[in-house]
Amino acid sequence: MMYLYRNMSIFANNILVTGGAGYIGSHVVELLIKNNSKVFIFDNLITGYKKLINKKAKFIRGDIKNLKKLTKIINENNINSIIHLAAYINIKESEKYKKKYYRNNVGGTLNLIKACRGTSVKTVIFSSSCSIYGNIKGPVSEKKTPNPKSYYAFTKYKSEEIIKRYSKKFNFKYGILRYFNVAGASKSGKIGEIEKSHGHLIKNLAIQSTKLKPEVDIFGNNYNTKDGTCVRDYIHVADLAEIHIVALKNIINKKKSLILNCGYGKGYSVKEIIDIFKKIKKNVIVRYQKKRQGDVAQIYANISKLRKTLNWKPKYNNINLILRSAIKWEKKLLQ
Ligand SMILES: NC(=O)c1ccc[n+]([C@@H]2O[C@H](COP(=O)([O-])OP(=O)(O)OC[C@H]3O[C@@H](n4cnc5c(N)ncnc54)[C@H](O)[C@@H]3O)[C@@H](O)[C@H]2O)c1
Repeated sequence: MMYLYRNMSIFANNILVTGGAGYIGSHVVELLIKNNSKVFIFDNLITGYKKLINKKAKFIRGDIKNLKKLTKIINENNINSIIHLAAYINIKESEKYKKKYYRNNVGGTLNLIKACRGTSVKTVIFSSSCSIYGNIKGPVSEKKTPNPKSYYAFTKYKSEEIIKRYSKKFNFKYGILRYFNVAGASKSGKIGEIEKSHGHLIKNLAIQSTKLKPEVDIFGNNYNTKDGTCVRDYIHVADLAEIHIVALKNIINKKKSLILNCGYGKGYSVKEIIDIFKKIKKNVIVRYQKKRQGDVAQIYANISKLRKTLNWKPKYNNINLILRSAIKWEKKLLQ
């Protein structure tokens, strides 16, 4: 009973979720609310959606570049923990609009951290990305020195550095979660990925699944991989959301910062994923396109640290299930 009470009290905390109206953020919020926490969503809705905003959370429309507003929200609401997901995330676009990406992702993160100075914020969880590692053969562990290849990846790496640097100065612990490729939708049927512009393979397949003549693009087929197409580690968004809850509990209880890979430790090539899709949807037309700037050949996670540190096991680590979950959500979006 005592243990239960202690756990409940952790999640009675006031948690600020930047980017909480986005794809992954909305799943994190859904789970935080299930865990009885008081949640404040801070989002400018640039790629977020009103439809994804949890009714039990308090929504504040705002931009992380606005230091004054952030400071006010954190102070007025006695925020203890921040989960920082707000960012621009399109790799291709980041190569073209570097300043825009720097200002939003790096400048925005610095602002958010500055707003924590002298406040009740004790924990910051940051959405980083496997892209900071660059191109790696074999499973990559958290010890690997970052080698970002795209500008987007560079902004994530810089943001990590800011968080680490200020953690001692401003007296907070951090959780840097390096997500691999996120896909699928919540079992609740209420939330999933809406934004189409990010160029995510599984989202694109889900969109195509709703068409009479599905067409799928493969960007590059002469990479140095098992079949020439890019290899990625896909994680179900519901599992990823749960990692946030478990990581937050762990950091609060142990008062120790964490850096964790968030994937399943298995790499699938684009061709392999499309072959699975072809079993679900017939008459798929596959088109080969030029490589996309900033894409690396392969990346998949070593997740020993994730399993060991959090004592956590995935529930949805089945690629068929992930694909079907994304397709089910896409159908729902059409209703
Ligand atoms: N989707 C993936 O596969 C993946 C992989 C690795 C890392 N990530 C990281 O996860 C986080 C969430 O990504 P997502 O897939 O949910 O994308 P998303 O676009 O759905 O979510 C981003 C959210 O941030 C908001 N936002 C952006 N700039 C903002 C600003 N200046 N002020 C306030 N709000 C702002 C957007 O409106 C949106 O709601 C990002 O930080 C991304 O870099 C995602």
